[in-house]
Amino acid sequence: MEPNTPSEILLDVKGLKVSFNTPAGCLRAVNGISYTIREGEVMGLVGESGSGKTVGAYAVMGLLKAPAKINGGSVLFKGREILSLSKKEAAMFRGKEIGMIFQNPMSSLDPVFTIGSQMIETIRVHDKSVSKAEARAACIDMLHKVSIRDPGQVMRQYPYELSGGMRQRVMIAIALLCRPKLLIADEPTTALDVTIQATILQILKRLQKQHRMAMLYITHNFGIVAEICDRVSVMCGGYILEQGSVEDIFHNAAHPYTQLLLRLAPRMDTPPSAPLHYIEGPPADPTRLPAGCVFQARCPFCMAICRDRRPPETILAPGHAASCWRLGSQTADETGERVGA
Ligand SMILES: Nc1ncnc2c1ncn2[C@@H]1O[C@H](COP(=O)(O)OP(=O)(O)O)[C@@H](O)[C@H]1O
Ligand SMILES: [Mg+2]
Repeated sequence: MEPNTPSEILLDVKGLKVSFNTPAGCLRAVNGISYTIREGEVMGLVGESGSGKTVGAYAVMGLLKAPAKINGGSVLFKGREILSLSKKEAAMFRGKEIGMIFQNPMSSLDPVFTIGSQMIETIRVHDKSVSKAEARAACIDMLHKVSIRDPGQVMRQYPYELSGGMRQRVMIAIALLCRPKLLIADEPTTALDVTIQATILQILKRLQKQHRMAMLYITHNFGIVAEICDRVSVMCGGYILEQGSVEDIFHNAAHPYTQLLLRLAPRMDTPPSAPLHYIEGPPADPTRLPAGCVFQARCPFCMAICRDRRPPETILAPGHAASCWRLGSQTADETGERVGA
């Protein structure tokens, strides 16, 4: 545990833009998103499918591959620009400073190596001075922490020999091995059944508190948001349309998009097999984003100005802002305040 100093900004994302060159034209996946995460803070990133959550997180991890292109913005980690790191630097940075858990653990576990050898390798890649025996002991300790009862046995197994829930625990253990200051979790429990989902969430929450680790938690499940997050950014069509504390979002959602998402959202106890409810009407085509608000075509309150001009960010309360023409006219520019900060 670290001393209880006022928490500093760990991750500062400003105006991040990512596009893809596709046969249908330039696909604008992330269109200038800004948010900050302080040490020990959990930021939830919510939004419908295709709203740019994963692409935005991959940019932060330095994991984007062609045809993805970062078109602007900056990502500061402890004040250091990480978008300009070389591939090698970015690889060292990942794992050590920022850990990541993906939705599908099979895509990140190597099928031909045992869990033990993959875990030991993860530690030794980042710190060559650690002996194999020391690394092994650290791995067993971490497997205990994610509530795996027989770590020695799991170390000898191959990924395919484990159940989905066990694999996801192993993934969390691997992500935490180098004690990252920030963990990015991209829908880490979506593929699991409800009981296992709840167990994994409890494990993550406990470890997050113990290690005072910051998290960017991507999910479309507001039950999970309520359970684990301090603040929330709500994404639509590559924009953050609303940002605030969990209380702001649950009790004072200001954007019609956030309000609709909340109304249709699955809860903690919704079985993953239940059909997801979507906001009626197709989301804006990211290769032909409209002028004005990205949510205009589906918004029950759409006005003429919403079609013409993009709404500015309105500060509603300290730390709470939304971009919607229906809200007051006091913009972030006028107050000099930045909600993300
Ligand atoms: N490799 C890719 N090539 C082209 N388009 C992509 C690629 N990856 C993602 N996209 C597009 O970027 C947009 C954002 O995707 P994504 O970040 O995966 O959404 P989310 O995680 O919110 O569901 C979507 O329109 C998606 O189709
Ligand atoms: Mg995604």
